[in-house]
Amino acid sequence: MSRVPPSRHARRRARLLAAAAASALAAVLLQSQTVAGGAAADETPPYQDPDLPVATRVADLLGRMSLAEKIGQMAQAERVDIDADPSLITEHRLGSVLSGGGSVPDPNTPEAWADMVDRYQQAALATPLGIPLLYGVDSVHGHGNLLGATVFPHNIGLGATRDPALVEKIAHITAEETRASGPQWAFAPCLCVARDDRWGRTYESFGETPALVESMETAIDGLQGRPGQLDEPDRVLASAKHFAGDGLTTYDDAAAGTGAYPIDQGIDRVTRAEFDRLALAPYVPAIKEHHVGTIMPSFSSTDFNGGGTDDAVKMHANGELLTGWLKEQQGFDGFVISDWRAIRQLPGTYAEQVEASVNAGVDMFMEPIQAPNNPSGWDEFIPTLTQLVDTGDVSMARIDDAVSRILTAKFELGLFEHPFTDRTHLGDIGSKAHHAVARRAVSESQVLLRNQRHTLPLRGKHDVYVAGSNADNIGNQAGGWTLTWQGGSANVIPGTTILDGIEQAARGDVTYSETATARVPRKADGIVVVGETPYAEGFGDVGGPQWAYDPADNGVPRPEQTMRLSEADTQAIETVCERAKSCTVVVVSGRPMVIPPSLLRQIDALVASWLPGSEGAGVGDVLFGRRPFTGKLPVSWPRSVAQEPINVGDRGYDPLYRYGFGLRTR
Ligand code: GLC
Repeated sequence: MSRVPPSRHARRRARLLAAAAASALAAVLLQSQTVAGGAAADETPPYQDPDLPVATRVADLLGRMSLAEKIGQMAQAERVDIDADPSLITEHRLGSVLSGGGSVPDPNTPEAWADMVDRYQQAALATPLGIPLLYGVDSVHGHGNLLGATVFPHNIGLGATRDPALVEKIAHITAEETRASGPQWAFAPCLCVARDDRWGRTYESFGETPALVESMETAIDGLQGRPGQLDEPDRVLASAKHFAGDGLTTYDDAAAGTGAYPIDQGIDRVTRAEFDRLALAPYVPAIKEHHVGTIMPSFSSTDFNGGGTDDAVKMHANGELLTGWLKEQQGFDGFVISDWRAIRQLPGTYAEQVEASVNAGVDMFMEPIQAPNNPSGWDEFIPTLTQLVDTGDVSMARIDDAVSRILTAKFELGLFEHPFTDRTHLGDIGSKAHHAVARRAVSESQVLLRNQRHTLPLRGKHDVYVAGSNADNIGNQAGGWTLTWQGGSANVIPGTTILDGIEQAARGDVTYSETATARVPRKADGIVVVGETPYAEGFGDVGGPQWAYDPADNGVPRPEQTMRLSEADTQAIETVCERAKSCTVVVVSGRPMVIPPSLLRQIDALVASWLPGSEGAGVGDVLFGRRPFTGKLPVSWPRSVAQEPINVGDRGYDPLYRYGFGLRTR
């Protein structure tokens, strides 16, 4: 946040003193306005005075707010809930709106995004106190929802770069492209430490060790800037997620293939010491060094005592961690935003779910309706919480704490002074300069795992033969959270495919045949680009559900994710490796994929490409020696799925390729 944090106690005392002083000031001002018959009536109220300290402005505004206005600030709607009638924002005093994955304006252009957010902002400013709206979006690898945004490699590839400065640069570009198109808040970065690669969100993790994840928290600096820069047109509020232990859940074999998520949103069956080391640790620097503005709890639960499912505690109701550890011990002074309808997974009635999560320390509630998917959301949250305050089950002190945190973020974002989109950088969205950074990131993220006879880099005027399901599919190489929630093979974004890059870099003729049915010239260098199709969250769990979700699926059930190569890709590898002069396999996936020994023996060079995003040409740059291979594995590469979870430091650790491995070329 935008203050150099004094000590925890000092900050807390300052906040309480400022609140008391400003409440007294507000009362006097209001009194003077009344007494002087309006002589002071046109004086600027303190909360509208940018020269006053934020704490003073917060306290003054808080003192003017009704309970309805306070609870409205704690409610977040989804854009489809209010797009047809933004006056609902005014009527219900809503403090925030989000775009869920794929929830975009039509047309999906930067201008339409900015116009949309500004239209909603107009409605927020029409409220009596004119408290501006906060708009959030999942800019997790660039502003992926926006067609035309620069789409960067997903975090697992950025972890492979081991380049914190590059990650900060990428996050800064992401912030610029996000803020210029309207949203002032990114639900990123994920600080998940992915321990079991069967998890569908493995690619959202920078890697399997807390140290690697912490090193990449420069992403927060790129998004927010240094303290005091949040109000600039190229910065956004960040959200460290998902607190905590989202990547530590235990795979539930019984759930596999049943349509449920076998591991996503599951239970961390670990000791408290393991949880501290693997799940909580990354949040300390995120708060103390990087001053992250918001934190999003995980859907998952913890079971430290091996008591089983009944003993598991949902993170959204874990007061010991959300308030005790996060806010009191670590001094987190931003606000906690719930995940998507996550409180409805808590035990009990809706009133009990709201009471438990508010009192545990959640401050703002992502309660989309998204009709016809759900009958209610924020429209049920508001009266329910109001009732809980009326009955004393939730204290006004808790409400005031939550609202103060939310208002602080809005003041620090400069929204009271500049509520509408600053379009200064609108023209930079998807610029050549941004794509050049993306292309460099793609090259630095490539990990060379095998290179028999120095096959790579390819040199000389040889012909090249390209095959494989992911050679020429920009939707597959971008992965989830791209245009739609799940991403999609049919999702096309501006950029280059891996085949485009090969065609740019090769000096001989290039033949492309996805299934390697075209004749393979004996002297050609073969490149087979294989891997996964896009997915997000539990849909990417090995053994997870396949039902069609996104319009992009056109009703076609989603392919099963297995961490194994498809039959077509395997066949393409065998055909090309048998006939071509050399045979390079490039794996485009959100996690390691199993390469059986019988297949590996046939392969000259093997590259882990991860999910490169919009600049597939960056792969060609390292294949043909324009840039060196420097990437290192961010996760252990297993010999088989049966080895999962497998992580560096395990007893009997025996992966196919170890964490941190990567061959270099000049
Ligand atoms: C999702 C994800 C979370 C995302 C949120 C808003 O369920 O768990 O990472 O930020 O909803 O799209």
